[in-house]
Amino acid sequence: TVIYVPRDAAALAAGADAVAAAIEAHAVAHDQRVRIVRNGSRGLLWLEPLVEVETPAGRIAYGPVTPEDVPALFGAGLLRGGAHALRHGPVDQLPAFARQQRLTFARCGLDDPLAPVYWAGLRNALALPPADIVQQVLDSGLRGRGGAAFPAGIKWRTVAAAPGPRKYVVCNADEGDSGTFADRMLMEGDPYLLIEGMAIAALAVGADKGFVYIRSEYPHAIATFEAALQAAREAGVLGARLLGTGPAFDIEVRVGGGSYVCGEETAMLESLEGRRGIVRAKPPLPAISGLFGRPTVINNVLSFAAVPTILEHGPAFYRDFGTGRSRGTLPFQLAGNIKHGGLYELPFGLTLRELVFDIGGGTASGRPVKAVQVGGPLGAYVPEAEWDLPLDYDAYTAKGLVLGHGGIVVHDDTADMSQLARFAMEFCAVESCGKCTPCRIGSTRGVEVIDKITLNHNRPQQVRLLRELCDTMLHGSLCAMGGMTPYPVLSALNHYPQDFGLLDEEER
Ligand code: NAI
Ligand code: SF4
Repeated sequence: TVIYVPRDAAALAAGADAVAAAIEAHAVAHDQRVRIVRNGSRGLLWLEPLVEVETPAGRIAYGPVTPEDVPALFGAGLLRGGAHALRHGPVDQLPAFARQQRLTFARCGLDDPLAPVYWAGLRNALALPPADIVQQVLDSGLRGRGGAAFPAGIKWRTVAAAPGPRKYVVCNADEGDSGTFADRMLMEGDPYLLIEGMAIAALAVGADKGFVYIRSEYPHAIATFEAALQAAREAGVLGARLLGTGPAFDIEVRVGGGSYVCGEETAMLESLEGRRGIVRAKPPLPAISGLFGRPTVINNVLSFAAVPTILEHGPAFYRDFGTGRSRGTLPFQLAGNIKHGGLYELPFGLTLRELVFDIGGGTASGRPVKAVQVGGPLGAYVPEAEWDLPLDYDAYTAKGLVLGHGGIVVHDDTADMSQLARFAMEFCAVESCGKCTPCRIGSTRGVEVIDKITLNHNRPQQVRLLRELCDTMLHGSLCAMGGMTPYPVLSALNHYPQDFGLLDEEER
């Protein structure tokens, strides 16, 4: 009998290794034949470790499993998918899972992440002229999934058209946003998909070398991705000839040093080139002059990983999902105080209320939801009045909100929004690269001003000062770090004034 026990970092943190060992030991002691496969995660993190058993009636899931549960599970007929309090039936029939539209995460969590794949998208790309690959990505409507939502096809076209003896493909896997883990889950659960997307990008723009910049906090993703690279080289997918027939292409992993701002593309380039991660002024765009001064495609993990689906099934297939100018799917990540935390890949267009309540089940504490931060530490707190807005890049932008990388962090009514605003400023002060004044000095001043507001040291004047400071940071910062920190700060101030001690309309 095949039993799946995830090896994803989230499952490991919840004790998956001990569960796998307990299953193995029990099976040996009771002379039962089992084969344990260490798969990626299905994204239902509240059920991890989520154990699945292959039965004639399909894969039956149990979770969250502890080593202590193992004897009782075997007693209940685990190997036949027997009844037990932890039994959930087939994963794909769980309501939260069934509602999803898994395109990018279709394979993630199904098997050993290093089990061979067919590379269907790459095979199709190899049969096309580079301009047609770019056209397919353009036609799919794919926009950058790192957060800025720039059309991927236009970026690729710029790099393809840029003159230069050498071009690069760089993947930004410095996933630093609070509440996000989609890049990590993909690299741990289906690393070949990222390799395939990067290889297709390389074909499209004429690059022979790729780099993946992975944050050091992701040791499991680094190990799995390195192993996948090695396996892809040995299988003749990467190397002197892509899939044995195409041009040369290989990928190297570079590990970050723990700086949030190295997720900003130009700071990442500095870091890749061996210097301190300080933001470069744009222009020149990396698409024209990027890594080592060469034209460079820089995309997020999820952007590259969306591409094989487009090349395999055609741009119209991908484009059919979504709404408005937000085409395809976004792997939303539910985190913070949420009952059913995890990753849910869905087409754009559903609402935050559906995501947090219908899929996420509301808060883990059972208390009312007070605030939801969408788009990482630089994203705004979305007030309840906007919870029915479609999750769509442009609908959000029109309201001064951001979807970012799809990270959603939920807080219950015990949250103090003045302290969350203070944290946003403090985070910016700690992570600022120091290149420009509004961010370097403004963030530190911001912490002080918020402290004065909460202590009521001339509150009305300090509130005005905070608004002026945010205005300067918004318009005067060189990159999103300083330029977006006012989003969480001002949304907290505007929608939760009572947490800042502001009771009178005039004081706001
Ligand atoms: P941006 O809007 O300046 O650029 C977006 C991308 O498009 C860049 O790669 C840029 O080089 C490229 N680009 C722009 N114009 C182009 C043109 N004409 N031709 C070719 N390429 C072009 O945004 P930026 O500063 O790169 O990203 C900010 C976003 O990053 C924020 O919205 C935020 O949501 C997100 N973010 C994501 C994090 C994460 O962990 N994933 C962390 C922090 C921020
Ligand atoms: Fe550096 Fe902050 Fe300026 Fe960005 S906004 S360049 S992080 S100092």
